[in-house]
Amino acid sequence: MAKNVLEIGYREIILSKVICDSEVLDEAGLTLEVYPSREEACRAVADELVAEIRDRRELVLGLATGSTPLPFYRELVRRRQEEGLSFQGVVGFNLDEYEGLSPEHPESYYSFMQKHFYGQVDARAGHLPPGIYQNAAQACAEYETKIREAGGIDWQLLGIGGNGHIAFNEPGSARDSRTRRIELDERTRLDAARTFGGLAHVPRAALTMGVGTVLEARRIVLMAWGEGKSEILHRALLERETADLPASFLQSHGNVRIVTDMGAGGWALS
Ligand code: PGA
Repeated sequence: MAKNVLEIGYREIILSKVICDSEVLDEAGLTLEVYPSREEACRAVADELVAEIRDRRELVLGLATGSTPLPFYRELVRRRQEEGLSFQGVVGFNLDEYEGLSPEHPESYYSFMQKHFYGQVDARAGHLPPGIYQNAAQACAEYETKIREAGGIDWQLLGIGGNGHIAFNEPGSARDSRTRRIELDERTRLDAARTFGGLAHVPRAALTMGVGTVLEARRIVLMAWGEGKSEILHRALLERETADLPASFLQSHGNVRIVTDMGAGGWALS
């Protein structure tokens, strides 16, 4: 079947989740699961992650920020508090950080991770690219080295931007791009304007893991919620891989799980 033609039906309903039946996605080693709500989706992803954590002495996690992973972090924190889940074997690496924001800045991704995850669990270490640096190329090379020295990323969490970016790999990012400084797209800055209290306050650049860096993760889980992500997700999965839509490069990774709510993934069920 041509890569950009997809005939989807559904083959299994397990509890409340629908697994889409698609030759294209199956061949690509990609599963798409549509849940009635993001909370249910996050519980299912947490089940997978918890099994990984319990199976290994050490797990290197790739972590994301933004509104998408929030219910997932809430679920992990709940398991820490109510079930005593230990994250002591977990070392995290975040995807990106805004240029010019110190760790103390309330909108830095460092602050976000402290507030929603690291401040509430007992992870061994959590790394982010720096927001303040002298030399971007050197800071990026050091970040790549840290990831490599940790043994590479075992399990990577991703969201998808309204323009199809993964991490801050904006349209035009090559499949083999590495951690680097990038100028943010206007669309990305507009999406962030509300949290920053206006577009003028949104940084113009960031350091981001590259597409190639992300694709080296052994397992990738991408989450998408709401109708606003529906069309871009559909295109990312069904159009040909292209740097114009960096999330499309997930098609050829080989071990990707995509979880959505009805808003973002309902198209797959019709
Ligand atoms: P969001 O962003 O979670 O705030 O929608 C996702 C992304 O840009 O990757």
